[in-house]
Amino acid sequence: MENLENQTPPSKQDQYNQDLFTFIQNSPTPFHAAANMAERLEQNGFQRLREQDVWNLAVNHRYYVMRNNSSIIAFAIGGRMPWETGINLAGAHTDSPCLKVKPLPEKNFNSTIRLAVEVYGGALLNTWFDRRLNLAGRVTCFVENHGEPGSDRLASFLINFNRPVGIIPSLAIHLDREANTRRSVNPQVDMAPLFYLDGASNKASFKQILFDQAVKEHPEAGIRKIVDFDMGFSSISPPCYTGLNRDFITGPALDNLISCHAGMRSLMAADTRKTAMLVCTDHEEIGSDSSAGARGSFLTSILARIAKTPEQAGRTAAKSVMISWDNAHAAHPSHGEKHDANHLPRLNKGPVLKVNAALKYASDSESSALFKTLCTRANTPWQTFVMRSDMPCGSTTGPLISSRTGIKTVDAGAPSLAMHSICELTGAQDPYMVFQVTRELFAMEEQPLLSLT
Ligand code: CO
Repeated sequence: MENLENQTPPSKQDQYNQDLFTFIQNSPTPFHAAANMAERLEQNGFQRLREQDVWNLAVNHRYYVMRNNSSIIAFAIGGRMPWETGINLAGAHTDSPCLKVKPLPEKNFNSTIRLAVEVYGGALLNTWFDRRLNLAGRVTCFVENHGEPGSDRLASFLINFNRPVGIIPSLAIHLDREANTRRSVNPQVDMAPLFYLDGASNKASFKQILFDQAVKEHPEAGIRKIVDFDMGFSSISPPCYTGLNRDFITGPALDNLISCHAGMRSLMAADTRKTAMLVCTDHEEIGSDSSAGARGSFLTSILARIAKTPEQAGRTAAKSVMISWDNAHAAHPSHGEKHDANHLPRLNKGPVLKVNAALKYASDSESSALFKTLCTRANTPWQTFVMRSDMPCGSTTGPLISSRTGIKTVDAGAPSLAMHSICELTGAQDPYMVFQVTRELFAMEEQPLLSLT
């Protein structure tokens, strides 16, 4: 079967999915996701802007800005400035639940060294046991200042061990007879990954281990000492097709790297006379309340600098529309009762439009109608999700961005199962459909909502 398939040229969708798998595998942290997006965008003519600098933006130019090296806003200005045309925006988040290493992490029990962690975001903890874990993140270091001795300049670097360096072994069932019926997970007691066995030959502090890795990955940087770090454990297992007929995609961080990747690919392909913008923010999984998060000033600051005057900014927002992409819950085959009976999203049946009366999702009839119009143009089906009325609803960055900017927004996402598991699941056709709709959004010159024109 493999041989046969090797002879068949890959479809556009399959090529797209392989690119997605590589992107996810190379993006174990929000820092790496943002760096990978920046690299791809630069290869496609996007010029980096720094918030510290003076900007002279011009029509028909492409730019991107990063904040905290974990959030990225990229935009292609069309033939006219945005206050004349509005902006077509797509949003996503760069972060996923992970295990964040504590400042003084080493725990030695019986010569076994583990690393203490905090749980970042709403991780489904029972899925993290017995998985091979990678360690990656950002280190901030003293660096040599152009060779001057005694300098204390600080610089940050990304590091990625990119191999299984940790594991959280389950307690054997013989020692926990109720493991299948009453297991509970205590994040302080249970979640510290095994890191190494203590021996005379390998006595090294965690910072020394980080230092060695940082020097290995950045030999020319003049790194002298690790001062601090943002490091997290995540799955080392790459995404892949799953199921007898390859109907599924399984892998880590599908929420929400599917959407970051789709936005990036759409913006790279955008040949637009109207301004297109991709907003990928960090810290969604912990509420977005940070300088780089969707509750922070990043997007509003960028929009204000593009527009220059308050009137131009107001006109821009009033003419703009946004799709806030974040994965949605497909109906779980074992638990159909968790969904409203008339709203049962299925895998491979199109992006899921998300609505909520309390506006935990930003969608309203206008933005939803626009979304359906774009799906039709992209020749893509869509489906609708609304929570059961007796269950609380999650939220996304959509309402945060919409309320801060005034931009008409719709919430949508790829249908998925096992959200926030270490190995999530979506349909094999779903990421490509998110891409097709986003590409249609960025190609939209005259948007159909008369109320915004
Ligand atoms: Co999400």
